[in-house]
Amino acid sequence: MADSAADALTNKRALWRQRAYEAPLDTLNPAWASAFRDDGHWPFFERLRAEDPVHWTPDSSYGPFWSITRYDDIMAVDTNHQVFSSAKGIGLSPKASVLPPDARLDETAGESPSPSFIGMDPPEHDIQRKTVSPAVAPTRLHDMAPQIRERAGLILDSLPIGEPFDWVDLVSKELTTMTLATLFDFPFEERRKLTIWSDTMTTAPGHGPAETWTDRRRMLAECREYFIRLWDERVNAEPAGDLISMLTHGPQTRDCTMDEYFSNVTLLIIGGNDTTRNTISGSVFALNRYPDQYDKLRADPSLIPSMVSETIRWQTPLSHMARVATQDFEFKGKTIREGDRVVMWYVSGNRDESAIENPEAYLIDRPRPRQHLSFGYGIHRCVGNRLAELQLTIIWEEILKRFPEIRLLEEPRRSYSVFIKGYDEMKVVIPRRN
Ligand code: HEM
Repeated sequence: MADSAADALTNKRALWRQRAYEAPLDTLNPAWASAFRDDGHWPFFERLRAEDPVHWTPDSSYGPFWSITRYDDIMAVDTNHQVFSSAKGIGLSPKASVLPPDARLDETAGESPSPSFIGMDPPEHDIQRKTVSPAVAPTRLHDMAPQIRERAGLILDSLPIGEPFDWVDLVSKELTTMTLATLFDFPFEERRKLTIWSDTMTTAPGHGPAETWTDRRRMLAECREYFIRLWDERVNAEPAGDLISMLTHGPQTRDCTMDEYFSNVTLLIIGGNDTTRNTISGSVFALNRYPDQYDKLRADPSLIPSMVSETIRWQTPLSHMARVATQDFEFKGKTIREGDRVVMWYVSGNRDESAIENPEAYLIDRPRPRQHLSFGYGIHRCVGNRLAELQLTIIWEEILKRFPEIRLLEEPRRSYSVFIKGYDEMKVVIPRRN
């Protein structure tokens, strides 16, 4: 790996550590997109887990919020939807639907999204969730698997050998976008639009495809128009197994407004895209950082499913979800007030040494690899978790058949976001075989 980039990152991490421990505890704010970009966020959570696991940040660019940082406490909040509601936004910012979930308050004036079902409480949530879940049910996944495998093979067979390339672009984005296009039955040749729209939705202007907020609004309006066109086509056709057909024909969603429909489309675009993409990239990164684990995997490919789960824990592709308290609530000696925003930092819970043994280590043969918080818990637990695991498993089965090594060439470029924990670019080479 190129040393200068790695050295620069080490220095940045040291600065973040200093900042995390020098800040007075009572005003400590762990939500810095630049810390996540520099991989420097860890000390904030390490300190909070040890010194103040239910912590109030009185002021930040996202407004005031509670941080829940221990594994068991996150489970307690995530499973108590009566007290901790999703209906007032699930991001750090009070506005989070077609906005980047970590969009700052001053940037979001004028946008007022309708909620998708991730931003609803029962009973509406449960009804709408039921409408789309058949699209990712086990039988459907079973049917989709051969197609995912064929596409994974095509992607891998088209990669340059012996030449550097960006793994994020050529593999992670390509595979997840193809799968998403299948789920929506989206015109296949135009599938990269889905990637662009997804990135536009989850990044602040200047850090993704949109340069300005005006740009962003224009691109999302295009996306909306495109999906409304698909609605119009599908509503007049026979019901089918794709997600759009399910929304247009589902008894609980067919009468929704176009704002509501577009919010659910947005949820599925983001849910089905960045998270899995960043786990695919994360697996290459982690196996390079821990070469003994890469050796173990090559020696025993039956470890792929457990490696996949370990990567999902270790990477934690969504660093948090938030809730809003519906009433005053005593929690671990603190009083959470009605209306307070409560952030469950999955990224911290997944490193909690009181719940997970040796949590810093990446161990592909952990005894209970699916014990992690990356998919959330409770009624909003990820509906696409099995689809994500399936894609990861298939791509690694196909990789191991073809390439003994995917070599990381330099530190990857991490995303500038306190929500999407991932990689914008990852330079690798597949060594030529002699
Ligand atoms: C490694 C990949 C993935 C990760 C880490 C992930 C993570 C999450 C998390 C943390 C939640 C919220 C849980 C909560 O609030 O308690 C969630 C919900 C959701 N995810 Fe995923 N997700 C992944 C893949 C997918 C895929 C492939 C889809 C596509 C179908 C998807 C669709 C959804 C939907 C629709 C919800 C909302 C569920 C609800 O509100 O009931 N996710 N996901």
